[in-house]
Amino acid sequence: MAIQRTFSIIKPDAVAKNLIGAIYNRFESAGLTIIASKMIHMSQEQAEGFYAEHKERPFFADLVAFMTSGPVMVQALEGENAVLANREIMGATNPADAARGTLRADYATEVSENAVHGSDAVESAAREIAYFFSDDEICARTR
Ligand code: PPS
Repeated sequence: MAIQRTFSIIKPDAVAKNLIGAIYNRFESAGLTIIASKMIHMSQEQAEGFYAEHKERPFFADLVAFMTSGPVMVQALEGENAVLANREIMGATNPADAARGTLRADYATEVSENAVHGSDAVESAAREIAYFFSDDEICARTR
């Protein structure tokens, strides 16, 4: 199995509920290593750029408003099959569809405020990590 990197955001709803430690514990317990991490309050421009692929979708303005409503934790995770592993830890986008024991089943109630973001592919992970972290902010096993 390949060692991969993925990008993750703990969204404003989960940060406001003091869930950072609990969510980091899920990542680490599943064998993912946090190789970069910081708390930021995204600007409108940052959020619009990050979610640019969704700009034609009806919820785009709500998504940007939510993601700029408070601080978030952004992190790069590394481990075996990290992209899929993190998607499994998160659960489905809509918490109503998320499997029991996943982050979204446990910590989210609305599709519009769903606790966490995770990259959907190795290519998007690389782009998303580079969007928030410079190379010298990443402390990786596989530099
Ligand atoms: S996914 O996981 O990318 O396939 O999900 P998708 O349905 O394409 O949604 C893309 C991101 O938009 C968020 N989303 C919403 N935000 C606000 N309101 C509504 N109704 C809504 N529906 C989806 C969803 O959580 C995805 O954000 P990220 O940060 O990628 O999880």
